[in-house]
Amino acid sequence: MLDYVSDKVQDEERQGEAFAPFVADPNQYRKRFYIESYGCQMNFADSEIVASILNQEGFGATPHAEEADLVFINTCSIREKAEQTVRKRLTEFKELKQQKKGMLIGVLGCMAERLKSKFLEEEKLVDIVVGPDAYRSLPGLVEEAEGGQKAVNVLLSRDETYADISPVRLNSNGVSAFVSIMRGCNNMCSFCVVPFTRGRERSRDAGSIVEECKDLFEKGYKEVTLLGQNVDSYYYTPQPPKGGFSATPITFAALLELVAKISPGLRVRFSTSHPKDITDEVLYTMAKYENICNHIHLPVQSGSNRVLQLMNRTYTREWYMAKVDRIRQIIPDCGISSDIIAGFCTEEEQDHRDTLRIMEYSRYDFSYMFFYSERPGTLAQKRYSDDIPAEVKKRRLLEIVEIQNRLSLESNKKDIGKTFNVLVEGDSKKNVAEWKGRNSQNKVIVFPKKDFKLKKGDYIQVGVNDCTQATLLGKIL
Ligand code: 5AD
Ligand code: SF4
Repeated sequence: MLDYVSDKVQDEERQGEAFAPFVADPNQYRKRFYIESYGCQMNFADSEIVASILNQEGFGATPHAEEADLVFINTCSIREKAEQTVRKRLTEFKELKQQKKGMLIGVLGCMAERLKSKFLEEEKLVDIVVGPDAYRSLPGLVEEAEGGQKAVNVLLSRDETYADISPVRLNSNGVSAFVSIMRGCNNMCSFCVVPFTRGRERSRDAGSIVEECKDLFEKGYKEVTLLGQNVDSYYYTPQPPKGGFSATPITFAALLELVAKISPGLRVRFSTSHPKDITDEVLYTMAKYENICNHIHLPVQSGSNRVLQLMNRTYTREWYMAKVDRIRQIIPDCGISSDIIAGFCTEEEQDHRDTLRIMEYSRYDFSYMFFYSERPGTLAQKRYSDDIPAEVKKRRLLEIVEIQNRLSLESNKKDIGKTFNVLVEGDSKKNVAEWKGRNSQNKVIVFPKKDFKLKKGDYIQVGVNDCTQATLLGKIL
């Protein structure tokens, strides 16, 4: 399979995860829904908003599709493979629908937005199609679909942020939660479908973000990840008080500070940063607060200036390398990760080697690595030809993966002998006699439980004594 590498590295654990929130009494609900999510963290966060909207309508979630009256699939369009996975899943739901009369199937998210009502024509089994900005209309659409109509709402909005909706935490470990701080993207990277499926960028009311994070902390959560396609361009102007002067706008750095101040016991993470937008102010804020984690996801996409220009990334490799230097200067122990695309239109061996070189320069702790997948409607699809043969894309991607594997191992080896403050997330997957947690740099650390009375959500000092390429191994000090 040509693209196995890309799917392996992109959050494989969570793809297709069915949500199973705690349901006290399933019979108290008038209908039951099942929701399965694909793609980025933002999509998973959106499913929590959808669950909240449906809960308010008296619908309860079930972790079993066969028990549900409504089956939703929250979809991703970022690469063709993601869409294929969804289509395959939809054919599986078709059988279920044939067995269960009256069951409705809804497609949510980016694929719904991209294909719109075509979905209803192409995939005869789909009853409801809802884009990322139209979730408030879901209850009405369900009613329409129940009445036998085909229900579609794919309107994009300039101001919808779902600020007032308190997400129902789904499949959560009770320790870390995602908090959406903005929606959409104005960047127009030429390969990317997101600006078309998620619309214009808009920032959520800072007050509602802080309230949501406070509430999470009060409920026992110890870590929030602030989410946006491009968090560094967060910018919110609060409403001035009646008769008052205009209020000071809140930048991303200011928002980080507000969230960090909630409590030193609440860790703050964020994703994704755009190299052109991340500011010194953000870096200094990170350095100032112990509880803002020292990790930056800084997608490079390519290391070649020529390709970066075709990609419309609006920075050069020199600018990117200077950013990496600046991060290491202000936050010396900062973890840095990246997204990399192999085989973009016209990419030559020289361009590819530039990518390998920038990886070495940046010493990424980990990366999400993909080969280019042409997406309908994007600038690249309109302007350039997808001219790199599949075999060449695959070989280049494998070379990128090989380098990353070595860099990850080297980075982990450097941590042997160091001590980290680790937030305990739960049992290690392989061994229940071990805990799994993360350090500030976002590295996973596994360590024996021994006789210490620890629980999920505790912080503990762990000394690293060994590692694999993916994990640090340690013991409680
Ligand atoms: N082909 C391959 N990878 C892509 N990404 C976005 N669009 C494409 C595409 N058309 C990658 C980028 C982005 C990540 C979320 O997905 O690396 O940062
Ligand atoms: Fe896509 Fe670029 Fe926006 Fe990221 S910053 S969502 S890659 S357009």
